[in-house]
Amino acid sequence: MAAPILRVRNLTVIYPGVRPVKALDNVSLDVYPGEFVVVAGVSGSGKSTLLRAINRLAENDHARIEGEIYFDGLDVLRASRRQLREIRSQIGFIFQEYNVVERLSVLTNTLVGSLAHVGFWPSLVGKFPSYQIERAHQALERVGIPQPRHFDRAARLSGGQKQRVGIARSLLQRPKLILADEPVASLDPITANVVMNIFKKINEEEGITTIVNLHDPVLTFKYGRRIIGLKHGRIIYDKPITAINRETFEEDIYGTVEE
Ligand SMILES: Nc1ncnc2c1ncn2[C@@H]1O[C@H](COP(=O)(O)OP(=O)(O)OP(=O)(O)O)[C@@H](O)[C@H]1O
Ligand SMILES: [Mg+2]
Repeated sequence: MAAPILRVRNLTVIYPGVRPVKALDNVSLDVYPGEFVVVAGVSGSGKSTLLRAINRLAENDHARIEGEIYFDGLDVLRASRRQLREIRSQIGFIFQEYNVVERLSVLTNTLVGSLAHVGFWPSLVGKFPSYQIERAHQALERVGIPQPRHFDRAARLSGGQKQRVGIARSLLQRPKLILADEPVASLDPITANVVMNIFKKINEEEGITTIVNLHDPVLTFKYGRRIIGLKHGRIIYDKPITAINRETFEEDIYGTVEE
């Protein structure tokens, strides 16, 4: 078997405070190239912390991170600033709250992904090379946003369209890994499926390893090829879809409702 693209060992993340919170507790997992993993669990189980630890975003919250994370063989937690920028440039991160710049065009919002390897935003956003502009158009078409809309301001898009722009932007990074934190939580069920299908298509057709946090069990079961369940910061469930018992999986991951 190929080497894992992501290797997490004994990862513990603690948010400091008067009462520190252990958001992840000794988590270990390997993710192999091309996998489509859904991380499931109730609110507060540590899903966002896990994704945010992988590219060291959790540090922005002054979290204490212990353990080991290797991305494509690189030691994430001990990476220099330059190495970290390189690692982040290869990881597309998609948030629940779309993260588009409303006053900029759809096209420019997408082109920003091509700057991931540079690490800064040019002040002159009109200065992208033509081949990147062409790639941005193609990426937008790929996520179902047709040409005439590429020059609209992002503010004019619906939530589902903004999320598609987020995906197109991450494609411009040529990522090896896509991390999506509750990308469809703000969308209606139909649009949520449209967006999940885009992740699925990109994973299947381009082989980009994908990890998606979801709280909805229906979407989790429908799209996950491997499902990891978190509870109180620990992995309590980790199975390929072929080994999952449809009857009991909701209870296995979420537990029974406490009356
Ligand atoms: N910046 C922070 N500072 C302090 N505690 C935090 C911070 N972020 C998260 N936590 C705590 O860490 C735990 C895990 O939170 P996390 O956001 O990772 O869970 P989650 O599974 O993503 O939840 P949700 O489904 O609500 O998004 C929770 O107890 C939460 O309150
Ligand atoms: Mg979360």
